[in-house]
Amino acid sequence: MPPPVNIFEFEALARANVEPKAWGYISGGAEDEITLRENRAAFERTFLRPRYLVDVTQRDLTTTVLGTKIPFPLLLSPAGYHMLSHPEGECETARAAGAEGVLMILSTVSTRTLEDVAAVASSPLWYQLYMVQDQEVNAWLVRRAERSGYRAIVLTVDAYYTGNRETDRRNELSFAALHVGNLLLHTDDAPPQVFKATHYDDLGWKENLSWRDVEWLHSITKLPIIIKGLLTHEDAEIAADHGAAGIVVSNHGGRQLDGAPATLDVLPEIVTAVGDRMEIYLDGGVRRGSDIVKAVALGARAVCIGRPYVWGLGADGARGVRRVIEIFRTEFDTAMALTGKRTVAELSPSDIFRRPS
Ligand code: FNR
Repeated sequence: MPPPVNIFEFEALARANVEPKAWGYISGGAEDEITLRENRAAFERTFLRPRYLVDVTQRDLTTTVLGTKIPFPLLLSPAGYHMLSHPEGECETARAAGAEGVLMILSTVSTRTLEDVAAVASSPLWYQLYMVQDQEVNAWLVRRAERSGYRAIVLTVDAYYTGNRETDRRNELSFAALHVGNLLLHTDDAPPQVFKATHYDDLGWKENLSWRDVEWLHSITKLPIIIKGLLTHEDAEIAADHGAAGIVVSNHGGRQLDGAPATLDVLPEIVTAVGDRMEIYLDGGVRRGSDIVKAVALGARAVCIGRPYVWGLGADGARGVRRVIEIFRTEFDTAMALTGKRTVAELSPSDIFRRPS
């Protein structure tokens, strides 16, 4: 197959390379995949208003997230089980992110330990936390992330009950054989439950997660806290009231509540409500550089990508992930030039045209 020229071609390459069950898990969505499709559709019905006769020969694509400089407004979303796509798992992804200077958010359900990933990383890392029932274990995870130099905690809030992913049920997908080393690492300071557990399921997810847990998290760490998985201005306001440094507007890539709205569609109401109080990131359906322009114009500080880099990993390891990032950067650069923009700061909602429905 010729080398991929866009992200969609990486999808096809990865599909041919990874096990069918893993493929179903990576690419599928919940139930009728309405939300999965809607994430894309929202980008496809959102247009850019190009301005011409502007000298855009000198372009600067850089920006910052929580004060950290990044090469362009794109981050890697947390995704579990990278060893389904590559034997080196999350370490392979981290090497690629490092080579491109892109910030990676590491999942709690990582097949490599957060320490191993930090050891090979050369770009900034954030740690995505799924809380388990026991706060001692949660505190231990956060402590390890702090020790290893992770710069923020991303608390995902939309997945304490797994969405109804029928493909995975049909495939009888089970992660029993996959060792999620990250959660059951036997460090000197690991709580006893970690030594007793034979699988991370034994720890039990914190199904009763509430805003009190966000307060608790603040009480045990000074790291900035980002809440991932909000879709309403109401929740965004509560997050700001609880001292969140940022939120990720996300529907988990259409893998959780089918029928949740597209992230790009709800972004404006959230930006209006809390855009001056914290940074707002967005993920779900970002597949083109022009999608980054659209989301940033509508008020996102940066976008995050999930499936695209996992496809890159499955297609060609670190080289594939690097190529995926390069494609996004090149397309973003071109879309900026064609829109008449020199810097990320010049983007605003006036660059957007919504087709009357
Ligand atoms: C995810 N996502 C996810 N989110 C999270 O907070 N923790 C996790 O462990 C995972 N795991 C995971 C695995 C896989 C294979 C995928 C595809 C996704 C959701 C992810 O962070 C992000 O919200 C979506 O992937 C964004 O949508 P796109 O870019 O995949 O369309």
